[in-house]
Amino acid sequence: MEVIKTVAELRERLKREPQVACVPTMGNIHDGHLSLVRIARGLAPVTVTTIFVNRLQFGQGEDFEKYPRTFEDDCTKLAAEGNTIVWAPDEKEMYPEPQTFYVDLPKVANKLEGRFRPGHFRGMATVVLKLFNSVQPQIAVFGKKDYQQLAIVRQMVDQFALPIKIVPAETVRADDGLALSSRNRYLSAQERKEATRLREAILGVRDAVLSGDRNFIAMEYAAGALLARHGWSVDYVVVRNQRAVLRPEPHDKALVILGAAKLGQTRLIDNLEVQAP
Ligand code: PAJ
Repeated sequence: MEVIKTVAELRERLKREPQVACVPTMGNIHDGHLSLVRIARGLAPVTVTTIFVNRLQFGQGEDFEKYPRTFEDDCTKLAAEGNTIVWAPDEKEMYPEPQTFYVDLPKVANKLEGRFRPGHFRGMATVVLKLFNSVQPQIAVFGKKDYQQLAIVRQMVDQFALPIKIVPAETVRADDGLALSSRNRYLSAQERKEATRLREAILGVRDAVLSGDRNFIAMEYAAGALLARHGWSVDYVVVRNQRAVLRPEPHDKALVILGAAKLGQTRLIDNLEVQAP
């Protein structure tokens, strides 16, 4: 596996590659990321996994400084998965001068994660556009774990007419159902046990939706209350449509339940798609 640090080297290396699949990450590679690499490998002869902890998408008081940086380990795992190239620009390479141009997002990006993490999606979209411009892939794989992120990237690619196919990947979970996340490592042993309750709350909502109930507000409230009773600080548990991640219209059947809540200092997110009857 090749490790490349600069844009110039990357462009030179990829110049004559007609089919490149890209997997953008912030490193601390786990089985969730590796599942994306596996999908990418099945779609193109060359896979470029990018590793860059993007300061622009972290808010004040968020975990940018302490975000786990495990580059050697990441490379070992990616090589074992058959990834072709790791592109790991440093801060100076990605932001040679302070970034003053940003992607301007629609209002929908201020909802849910956007509401609780102001500026997050703007920083994310800006770096993803930059990653796309550097790698110039034909395909890029994103996890459904970050459901709004995936929706925003898809819309950005559509509206800017970027010649990139965005491929979604299912969420990879631990045996007990907890969605894999680099942030899980912040959890104490006791919190780790409790952490599965976010998924359970979401599954409770799913069962209600599957039973034909469309009183989403009541379901959302019950799920939030369950988490709060167990010491969580709940940002939201909501039912949205898959299409736009907005409140379901009466005719919307393809739904997604999204949750975000803090356990101690650690903020976890999860979601689940559900087809209403
Ligand atoms: P990061 O959190 O490292 O995630 C990189 C990719 O892995 C994202 O597409 C994310 O949805 C996916 N992913 C994370 N956990 C997953 C899981 N358990 N199962 C399946 N896929 C999972 O998302 C980012 O980085 C950044 O915002 C980035 C897009 C790289 C821009 O900085």
